[in-house]
Amino acid sequence: MTSSTGSWTASELPVIGAPMAGGATRPALVAAVASAGGFGFLAGGYKTPEALEAEMAALTVPFGVNLFVPGPSTLTEAEFRRYAEELADEGTPYGLELAGAPMVADDDDRWQGKLDLLLDRPVPFVSFTFGLPGSDVVRALADVGTQVLATVTTLGEAQAAVELGVHGLIAQGTEAGGHSGTHAPERPGAVPVVELVRQVAAGTSLPVIAAGGVSEASQVRELLGFGASAVAVGTVLLRTDESGASAVHKDALAAAGPDQTVITRAFTGRPARGLRNGFIERHEASAPIGYPAIHHLTRPLRAAAAAAGQPDQVHLWAGTGYSRARTGPAAAVITELASEL
Ligand SMILES: Cc1cc2nc3c(=O)[nH]c(=O)nc-3n(C[C@H](O)[C@H](O)[C@H](O)COP(=O)(O)O)c2cc1C
Repeated sequence: MTSSTGSWTASELPVIGAPMAGGATRPALVAAVASAGGFGFLAGGYKTPEALEAEMAALTVPFGVNLFVPGPSTLTEAEFRRYAEELADEGTPYGLELAGAPMVADDDDRWQGKLDLLLDRPVPFVSFTFGLPGSDVVRALADVGTQVLATVTTLGEAQAAVELGVHGLIAQGTEAGGHSGTHAPERPGAVPVVELVRQVAAGTSLPVIAAGGVSEASQVRELLGFGASAVAVGTVLLRTDESGASAVHKDALAAAGPDQTVITRAFTGRPARGLRNGFIERHEASAPIGYPAIHHLTRPLRAAAAAAGQPDQVHLWAGTGYSRARTGPAAAVITELASEL
């Protein structure tokens, strides 16, 4: 990928394997993206620093790392308890007592440990989602030669990131699969990727990586034409050979009819796009905003349901382009996405 300033020479093709936490992105996927001339990001979210370090050590190609920025939550204990009680019946078949689950609100995803690792073992790019890191973090990473990328979902978020001194922006459109990178989960923006790229490219002078709903070569060409320096894809890699997505997730993507994605907070307390299922239908209307407490509340349920092959209670993250998520080697997907350049 090369930026408009010519300073990005991380890969041959302007196609990026987006970070996908929760198991889908593993080193083999990042290596496969690189083998086709693209550039991949490891997903640092949810991992211990040790687990992230092991993934980094497994790679012999250049790669980036993505981290979740911990943020404040306004979820009250009373709202948490109400939702936990609402979910109680969901857990019963698996022997889970969700109504009595403790509220885990202070999990910072081992933020400092992972930053220390990235300062100790610098990588070319570190991207952040769920908010902006402090300017001290941006400076410290820059001092070790790392370019810092911020995920933004509105022009306002992009402008805040520019003020912070980041080196590039990931313009994540509302079509994107998985958690929205919104800096304001209680009032997320819903800007389509083409519109967002246009706005951010016109309103800032930083390189822009477009993300959200991309599944075809013509979209990659179009987004580069609108001013993106590179295009990131996630969902379209989920069913590939090197993806670590669960079998229940891969099968659900294959089985879903058209236009099945919705944005939901029911699983984690933070808006995310996934395939509509029974859990979302039963709980979306009453689900509170409150990451990470809601994520921790539903995690055992989602793990048990996935192990039991029950897609109805699993977070089936997917962007709007899921029907074109292909099987086979990930390298072939990257090659095809770049075929109109
Ligand atoms: C299963 C899944 C997990 C994701 N996890 C992360 C993550 O850990 N960090 C992040 O910044 N974005 C994450 N995302 C969003 C992607 O990085 C990217 O923005 C998105 O996949 C692009 O849209 P697409 O899925 O339609 O290609 C995830 C997306 C999916 C589908």
